[in-house]
Amino acid sequence: MKKFGNGCSGGTSAFAPIKPLALIGMMGAGKSTVAELIAQRCGCAWYDLDCLIEQRLGRAIATVFQEDGETVFRDAEARTLAELERSVRNPYVLATGGGTPLHGASFDLLAARFCVAWLHAPNQTLFERAFDPKRPLTAGGQEAFSMLASRRSECYRTLAQLAVDVGQISAAQAADQIWHWWKEHCYESEP
Ligand code: S3P
Repeated sequence: MKKFGNGCSGGTSAFAPIKPLALIGMMGAGKSTVAELIAQRCGCAWYDLDCLIEQRLGRAIATVFQEDGETVFRDAEARTLAELERSVRNPYVLATGGGTPLHGASFDLLAARFCVAWLHAPNQTLFERAFDPKRPLTAGGQEAFSMLASRRSECYRTLAQLAVDVGQISAAQAADQIWHWWKEHCYESEP
């Protein structure tokens, strides 16, 4: 029997990793915070797709939106996700950006190669947590944000194998729920 490839511990049983874990959902859902907490629980790596894109482009996301527009950002986002998926083999947790699954190729990649958990909460809660006048797609105010969230929810629902309501629970509680689910559903006991 073999342990998790890079030190992830599953208690008394031993597991072989099948798929990395991707967290999806709107801005303000706490994807990065929860991703880090899950990674701490299993001792695996975690990545923030927004940070990887910023590294790749050498600029802040808000600047990319402002200088080049959303299409350039979305293109970089899809390429960064595809590269990450190709190059990392050990199990990891990925915090996606709120719009990542809306890109067709990224949706397909996430569906095929990742375990996907959706962090959701009422639109007002998400907006209150996410609002920053400098942050792309929140500057339009709560109504525009809520319309965007409602348009996206079908995509999130279709893609996710697990939906977690993060409106009433802490990030640590969300991390525990998702971590237990990931272990059970996306790791397989070795003979
Ligand atoms: C976006 C969400 C952001 C970032 C960009 C666009 C979106 O990521 O990718 O500003 O379209 O919802 P977070 O969800 O991590 O804030």
